Amino acid sequence: MLAIDEKTITDAAVEQMSATRDPRLKEVMACLVKHLHAFAREIDLTPEEWIQGIKFLTAVGQTCTPYRQEFILLSDTLGMSSLINSLHDRRATEKGTKTSLLGPFYRQDSPPRKLGESILSNPRGPQICIYGRVVDSTGKGIPNASIEIWQTDDEGVYDLQRNDPSVMDLRGWYHADAEGKYYLRTVRPLGYLIPMDGPVGDMIRAQGRHGFRPAHIHFLIGAPGYRELVTALYLRSDDHIDSDTVFGVTESLVTEITPHDPKSPIPDLASIQFDFQLASARAEDASGRVGADPSKIVKNA
Ligand code: BEZ
Ligand code: FE
Repeated sequence: MLAIDEKTITDAAVEQMSATRDPRLKEVMACLVKHLHAFAREIDLTPEEWIQGIKFLTAVGQTCTPYRQEFILLSDTLGMSSLINSLHDRRATEKGTKTSLLGPFYRQDSPPRKLGESILSNPRGPQICIYGRVVDSTGKGIPNASIEIWQTDDEGVYDLQRNDPSVMDLRGWYHADAEGKYYLRTVRPLGYLIPMDGPVGDMIRAQGRHGFRPAHIHFLIGAPGYRELVTALYLRSDDHIDSDTVFGVTESLVTEITPHDPKSPIPDLASIQFDFQLASARAEDASGRVGADPSKIVKNA
């Protein structure tokens, strides 16, 4: 019989899982157990600390409701979602715009809008224009590419956080023209605090972190034959641009609002110009979406 101790336990656990039929599951679980045990050994984890960790994960699970996915928030705030996005980008065989977090405020059934229309149901306040092209890895425009966009208003609030979450606002579904060009109107978004009233918020406070996301605009872009792109554009002027709580910001996605851009299709509005690049899809490509989909949730509730 094997003498179980702090060293042999890892091989014993991996050995007991060795009959796992799915080869990828077998590989993932063996690697997970090895790293989990190595973590406990390295930090010399005590029983109290492990129970505290289990209580925390239990609270994370108990905070999840049909409206809220606290585990994804945990994944986001630990940098795990951003890491998974980077690994997803690395698997692409062609150049493309970097992925950024889908986040919990995406809804599948954004209202269809025509190019040039505002994403606000009742346009109010100073508008800006966002324009550019959706291109392939060679820079050629992708005709009719699908562009979903969603963001906060100028107070940092999403439609889903308002009194009646079934009302759609600050989101839209556009299609690029025959040359891959797009343009739309919106308002300047404001940064916001991630949900801080659950165990993830407790963790953020315990770590002395601020909990803010810098101002950003989300995009989900696709076309037949291309890898779906989940990304966001960030505003350089935001105070939290270098300390996003969920690590979604990366230099290539940081933009500025130009007050007067003669090349803009709406030159009398301040504007952001950005070209999105899609890599070709391969048969084995999985979705790059890491995030909850509250749209289904709100409908079913
Ligand atoms: C968001 O960008 O909508 C978001 C992403 C991660 C956590 C919270 C919000
Ligand atoms: Fe967001």
